[in-house]
Amino acid sequence: LDNGVGKTPQMGWNSWNGYHCGINQELIEQVIKSMVSTGLRDAGYKYVNLDDCWQLYRDPNGTIVPDPTTFPDGIVPLVEMAHSNGLLFGLYSDAGNETCQGRPGSLGYETIDANTYANWGVDYLKYDNCNNDHIRPQERYPIMRDALNATGHPIFYSICEWGRHHPWTWAPDVGNSWRTTSDIEDDWEKMIYNWDHNGPYFVAGPGAWNDPDMLEIGNGGMTFTEYKTHFSLWCIGKSPLIIGCDINNMSSETIEILMNTELISVNQDPLGIQAHKIREVFLKDDPSIIGEQVWFGPLINNQYVLALLNRKQDTTTISVTWQELDLNPNQTYMIRDLWLHQNISISTGAFQASVQKHETIVVQMIPYY
Ligand code: DGJ
Repeated sequence: LDNGVGKTPQMGWNSWNGYHCGINQELIEQVIKSMVSTGLRDAGYKYVNLDDCWQLYRDPNGTIVPDPTTFPDGIVPLVEMAHSNGLLFGLYSDAGNETCQGRPGSLGYETIDANTYANWGVDYLKYDNCNNDHIRPQERYPIMRDALNATGHPIFYSICEWGRHHPWTWAPDVGNSWRTTSDIEDDWEKMIYNWDHNGPYFVAGPGAWNDPDMLEIGNGGMTFTEYKTHFSLWCIGKSPLIIGCDINNMSSETIEILMNTELISVNQDPLGIQAHKIREVFLKDDPSIIGEQVWFGPLINNQYVLALLNRKQDTTTISVTWQELDLNPNQTYMIRDLWLHQNISISTGAFQASVQKHETIVVQMIPYY
């Protein structure tokens, strides 16, 4: 969507994966402080986004009212606190009669809600898909787009339709990103499932991103290696980097992953081209299961990102030739490992690496003369 925002994938924090409905003013104030003190803001994570359950009812004029028990001062002081700390602020609603958790939805209230968000200074709207009266999303989602546009206040518009109506075919002109799958879970299988079912690479680009759902890094259900793979894939996929853990209490491993500035640069590369699958190999003893994959995509300055993903239970060697990547076989590249933060080889024609169980080796290929 060409509305001036989302030229690179959105980065920030959202309350859902870590807290579900257990959100309140104090928590969000603490999150805003931690975004700054941990360095997340300076690493590029700008949005602080409330998910479901911040809203409770509509007043007699139809204006949405924040839950007075959990948000006694309302939303505006939080927006102001975010802004004065160099951050942006996001809210959540639903393109239906009620949100998924039974709070008031925006169907039929699009204009009044968009105006409320704009008056409050809100910078981002995640728009969910529950209780939608079986009206097609292609009809419901543009109404809120138009209402947000009409406010004149640039608001990132995040469509949360779960991929059922193939949003990659209709959403690039409707929203700045669109969910491509059902909800992620904090385990390897569902994370990889969401990656496998992400939208096609060629539809995404500046202002319009496939969204395989928010990050689970730091929530405890995957190993360090698996969380590094989760982050690697979301970075090369130009996926939204929306943190979903308790950032007030992050382990050093969580910080190392979320603050990998080299991978963040890949995610935020101005070309905005999602890496695509070059090759996959199925297990010999079970051809329905993917064992390894090679992903590849262009970056600015004739550079590339290459990812070798091992989905098997044991260490394996994955190799790739320039021919497979459609590169000049005589071109030499400096190969930089984006987890080791080191140049690991100077290669012409081919590259290979040993990859551990559930690991992803991500390298940047820099032309070398
Ligand atoms: C479904 C969405 O997919 C989730 O990300 C979250 O927003 C919940 N609804 C909230 O009810």
